[in-house]
Amino acid sequence: MRVTQEPLLRKFWYCVMPMSALGDTPVGMKLCGEPIALWKDASGAPRAVKDRCLHRTAKLSLGTVENGNIVCPYHGWAFDGTGHCVKVPQDVVEKPNPFGVPGYRCVERYNHVWVALDEPFYDIPVIPEFGAPGYRQVIEFCDDWACAPLRIMENAFDNAHFAFVHKGSFGDTDPVPPPFTLEDTEDGFVMRTEVPVRNPEGMRDAIGMTSDRTVRRTANRFFVPFFRAGKITYPNGLENILCTAATPMDEGKTRFVQWVIRNDTEEQVPSEKVIAFDKRVSLEDKLILESTDENVPLDASEGRELHMVCDRPGVLMRKKIRQLLRATPESTAA
Ligand code: FES
Ligand code: CO
Repeated sequence: MRVTQEPLLRKFWYCVMPMSALGDTPVGMKLCGEPIALWKDASGAPRAVKDRCLHRTAKLSLGTVENGNIVCPYHGWAFDGTGHCVKVPQDVVEKPNPFGVPGYRCVERYNHVWVALDEPFYDIPVIPEFGAPGYRQVIEFCDDWACAPLRIMENAFDNAHFAFVHKGSFGDTDPVPPPFTLEDTEDGFVMRTEVPVRNPEGMRDAIGMTSDRTVRRTANRFFVPFFRAGKITYPNGLENILCTAATPMDEGKTRFVQWVIRNDTEEQVPSEKVIAFDKRVSLEDKLILESTDENVPLDASEGRELHMVCDRPGVLMRKKIRQLLRATPESTAA
């Protein structure tokens, strides 16, 4: 699957960055290969339009924000949050109707910016614990990884890699992961299991437990195509919900956005401790995932990968995406 070649992939909400990354000036990035410019309008709401001026194709993201509109850096044409051109400082020869650049759905949710290029299939994933009494959010990462988004998603449900990739952190030595269950949901599935892990220094600080070992009871929810909310419950009652977006930017380039929702307090475990441990773990993953092929075959026609019995979650992800692609007439896989 090529993330820039599948019109289907434009029909989902993607988490692109924390709101805090949007300051007074526009920001540019690619989403499914499409250049987009993001900024905050006069009300502070995030906005996204195509990052290509309709006059001489300059990048609007290099421009400025004035009165809540994005202003092209080349000749000063201004565009509102829908992409409509609201000001031309010079005289124009013609004004087509509509007069502007494509605008995209863009909202703030979970203190992050979400963009959908085309009419989305599903709503933004619901995370009931967010904002619930007794829960807090720790915003962790927004980094660009050189791998396919599906590799990051599959890895988040792959408990067989702990003994190898994470042997330096929490991974147990048993290469065979414990049994798990998979249950379909409307927009993905949930995987449940209990995984014994080590509890080394760094993790002890992050989970507030001093034992050498512990058990992670997990309910890991996958949302098509590239989001997961994985709740880990520890024996001390800590719930740690890892919310991970693998946002397709370009072929072989994925934005890894992650935050955590937890039922403890900053006094019990400072955010830096949570972030420090998860950073260590995510860098262990990144090293390996960036070595994988950027094309993830969804079926045999695209090439072949061998599977382990415990790869069922990843195989199910591929199947769910393949089914949606088949139902999308313009898809290259149809
Ligand atoms: Fe944008 Fe000229 S290229 S105003
Ligand atoms: Co990992």
